[in-house]
Amino acid sequence: AYADKGVHKHFMAKEIHEQPTVMSYALSQYTAADRAAVALPGIAVDFTGFDRVVMVACGTAHLACHVAKYWFEQLARIPVEIEVASEFRYREPPVAPRTLAIFVSQSGETADTLAALRYMRGRAAAIAAVVNVLESSIARESDLVFPIHAGVEVGVASTKAFTCQLTVLAALAILAARQNGRIDAAREAELVSALESVPAAMAQVLAHEEVYGPLCWELSKASDVLFLGRGAMYPLALEGALKLKEISYIHAEGYASGELKHGPIALIDETVPVIVLAPSDALFDKTVSNMQEVMARGGRILLVTDQAGLSRASEGLWQSLRLPPVDPFVAPILYAVPAQLLAYHTAVTKGTDVDQPRNLAKSVTVE
Ligand code: G6P
Repeated sequence: AYADKGVHKHFMAKEIHEQPTVMSYALSQYTAADRAAVALPGIAVDFTGFDRVVMVACGTAHLACHVAKYWFEQLARIPVEIEVASEFRYREPPVAPRTLAIFVSQSGETADTLAALRYMRGRAAAIAAVVNVLESSIARESDLVFPIHAGVEVGVASTKAFTCQLTVLAALAILAARQNGRIDAAREAELVSALESVPAAMAQVLAHEEVYGPLCWELSKASDVLFLGRGAMYPLALEGALKLKEISYIHAEGYASGELKHGPIALIDETVPVIVLAPSDALFDKTVSNMQEVMARGGRILLVTDQAGLSRASEGLWQSLRLPPVDPFVAPILYAVPAQLLAYHTAVTKGTDVDQPRNLAKSVTVE
């Protein structure tokens, strides 16, 4: 049956709200019955056979790869290279033997991603696909297929596919870490339990959706917005900016918080809201000083963090959003939700066509 919007005004809203359910289901497909370890659904993969991972994708799927790079490198100590498919395919990069190539695509039909996959055929040791549509070309042409189980996604701006891509990539990174002898069973159980905690935390964020209306009314007046994040939250800053520009047509840029002083700080004044995605983690104090630099120049900060982050942040924030505390490992999955809601409610305030934004297509099957 084709998806309908149910009680929601837009497919995007419906798909944002489905995330606790679809993420739980995706996770159940990648964990053992006792929920203490990763277990793949009938797929055998041995990461000890690979020296490196190359990940190729477009759009939001490409940003999921950037989060996964932090996980694979930090947990499993496997070096990861990432590229957008349109650049990768024409660059004709040399491919080291013992490379695992991973192609991430919601539709499985993106022309550039498929062409990049065909380039890797015969060059990489194995080709894996992380896809939503199992009957797709990318799934058919891969050696290993990892379904993300997001269900049909209709909104052009990808939401639930992104968080399900992250869920599957996190499970793969945990598996790789175990196979490489980097984590023991107790640590694996902790990481899996951190993943298990995300759907309920997402549901809590969604239960307080009313706070986004007034906030996004303010945001809708801006013509430029900056998103900042550090570590695995840096790709989330890029995703927050991508979502906002796609559906609200407000110019937005994502930056690594530490890069602020190398350029974007020149743009800061009271007209440019700065959205900081920063769970209270080991790097939080660095982010606090970045926020002070912005505020010292009259910039307005919207801080998205948890209770501990709010108490460690300095005075003078313009706005804040408080999220439930989660293990920093899974924060990129949870923080996707406020990033999506900020874009969604800003677009609704502006009255743009949320599900069919101008000039964009759900699946880009031409170059
Ligand atoms: C288009 C869509 C994006 C999507 C990208 C990659 O640009 O509008 O939402 O992230 O394609 O699509 P894929 O199906 O390969 O994930």
